[in-house]
Amino acid sequence: MTIEFLNREEAAKELEHLAREIAYHDYRYYTLADPTLSDEAYDALRLRNLEIEKKFPDLRRVDSPSHRIGAPPSPEFEKVKHRKPMLSLDNAFSDEDVFEFLNRIRRFLKLPSDTKISMMAEPKIDGLSASLHYQNGQLVLGATRGDGQEGENITANLKTIRDIPLILQGDCYPKNLEVRGEVYMSKGDFDLLNQKRLAVSEAPFANPRNAAAGSLRQLDPTITAERSLRFFAYSYDALSGSSDLTQSDILTSLSQWGFSVNQEIELCSDENELVSYYKKLEERRSSLPYEIDGVVYKVNDLKLQQRLGTIGRCPRHSIAHKFAAEKAETILINIDVQVGRTGVLTPVAILQPVLVGGVMVSRATLHNEDEMKRKDIRVGDTVVIQRAGDVIPQVVEVVLSKRPKDSQPFHFPNQCPVCGGQVLREEGLVAKRCVNGFDCSAQAIQRLRYFVSRDAFDIEGLGDRHLENFYKDGLIHTLTDIFTLQERDQNSPTPLLSREGWGAQSARNLFEAIDKRRTISLDRFIFSLGIPQVGQVTAKLLAKYYKNLDAFEAAVLSDLLGIEGIGVNMANDIIRFLETPEQRQLINDLQKHITILHYEEIETVRSPMTGKTVVFTGTLQTLSRSEAKAQAERLGARVAGSVSNKTDYVIAGSDAGSKLKTASELGITILSEQQWTEIVNQAAENIAA
Ligand code: IVH
Repeated sequence: MTIEFLNREEAAKELEHLAREIAYHDYRYYTLADPTLSDEAYDALRLRNLEIEKKFPDLRRVDSPSHRIGAPPSPEFEKVKHRKPMLSLDNAFSDEDVFEFLNRIRRFLKLPSDTKISMMAEPKIDGLSASLHYQNGQLVLGATRGDGQEGENITANLKTIRDIPLILQGDCYPKNLEVRGEVYMSKGDFDLLNQKRLAVSEAPFANPRNAAAGSLRQLDPTITAERSLRFFAYSYDALSGSSDLTQSDILTSLSQWGFSVNQEIELCSDENELVSYYKKLEERRSSLPYEIDGVVYKVNDLKLQQRLGTIGRCPRHSIAHKFAAEKAETILINIDVQVGRTGVLTPVAILQPVLVGGVMVSRATLHNEDEMKRKDIRVGDTVVIQRAGDVIPQVVEVVLSKRPKDSQPFHFPNQCPVCGGQVLREEGLVAKRCVNGFDCSAQAIQRLRYFVSRDAFDIEGLGDRHLENFYKDGLIHTLTDIFTLQERDQNSPTPLLSREGWGAQSARNLFEAIDKRRTISLDRFIFSLGIPQVGQVTAKLLAKYYKNLDAFEAAVLSDLLGIEGIGVNMANDIIRFLETPEQRQLINDLQKHITILHYEEIETVRSPMTGKTVVFTGTLQTLSRSEAKAQAERLGARVAGSVSNKTDYVIAGSDAGSKLKTASELGITILSEQQWTEIVNQAAENIAA
């Protein structure tokens, strides 16, 4: 019917029909590469859809095909918390690492060492991960990975990617569905994009991954729409439903629902098959139309995946087997010695820029004084640079045959190159350190940078340049100064907005960004303190153990050593940090301006074990100790190493000795391994229900 004569009801009906029809033809074209409609007929459908929407703008559907063109620009991306964290993958760099990965799985699951475990091998696409939420088959939300806990809402941008279905195919998809996968740019589209950019004197992107990232995080989705991004789906999570599935089933369903699923996947039954798959794919790597940087191996059975759980930010059930690093030769122009947050002096190679595996490299780490001496690295040398994945490029060797005749050995400084302070090398350590602490401006600035960085306080608008200027001008010297900046600014004769590069709006944005971070979780806070050796994983372990800041501040060595994942060295560093009066003072000062939340278990399941203290003793038949402990933690229980009157349950395997005896003397409830497993299974059913 002519659009002119359509009434609202008819228009709404036709828009619904067109959305489905066009989605089906997109699927045939982009996913199956098997179109059943001519280009003209397809364009006619889209045009009709657009025209009906033009007449009835309020009837535009969330799954309308017109979203492919892009939406109006937005001022910023809204944050979205992931329902389940988006994890990272542990890396394997050799066949031995892969064998060890499988053995670790067998040990964890307490399986005999010759058990075959079915594994799915998939190419590791070099792009960016994204999460897509579907309700009743319609795409309602799409987000970036962000820091793994919280990403950004980029729905409008993702809707422009043609092989992301706006409506799912068929009708047997879960009502609530989250799909995860990789957004990438094909090698061909990358070359075309760079040619276009060069033609208008714009800087080309270094590699397809950067191009995909730059295209996806555009506030104006019409730009994303022009960039020909693609998507491979690799997992989904349904809010309810059976977990009797395998990774193969997952990929089959994703494909049936209209997603592009990588065709290079292979089901392998042991580690030898995995490594031969790896070798085969590495040979074909350059002929694939998209970039891959390795292979991902995943335990095929999802029930086993669930049992294996996570360690830190990585699942135990999967690993990325990376391809060998790429190398290139270039000239070492200079050696810069940088001073880090903890005073460590790091030599950095300043290089004649060179392309290494598609990325332009002009700096590389030289590690430390010993390494430099060992390799006898000198300014003017021709050196071999290596880059593996996201790792900082390194200088691996000197091409001695190309060394200039007049070259001089490099002398590592004996004074801090920034503050001139004394430099010491502790016994047994390779690093030299400036002892001036935060009196050394380099250390103070690095600490500030670390404190505001994404995994720490995540304060937007305090970039390196601003921090350096603020430090130089005495505006921000200590971490607390960040939180008093606005108050001081109000009474200042030279407020922020009078400074070069600042205006009323940017100053307001900065103060708002700081205010937004006046409440922080305990693990982030601990991480932000920059305690030597304490990264995100350890900060989380500490927060989980101590629950609140007061308890953490009162930490003693014996407690710390009882936390799995914390060794003697690290425990000593933590204690040394907490015993330093300046650090205590700083924590006190910060607390006057911020609120530190008590640690809350994020991913635990409510069960009769939540909040209880349990002790495992004796030999368990079906579970390894690590798995038993992981199960207990998932149920919100605390696992202790010894029995006391604070113990709620003792789980006794065979040959249990003195702990079992103490438990019965104290009248503590004793559970068998089977009773324990029943509790675990019951809890799992409760969440599935
Ligand atoms: S599974 C725990 N499968 O690699 C995360 N990831 O280094 C599980 N990636 O963040 C992801 N291809 O962005 C998986 N076939 C594939 C992948 C893949 C690329 C990316 C993904 C992830 C990163 C981890």
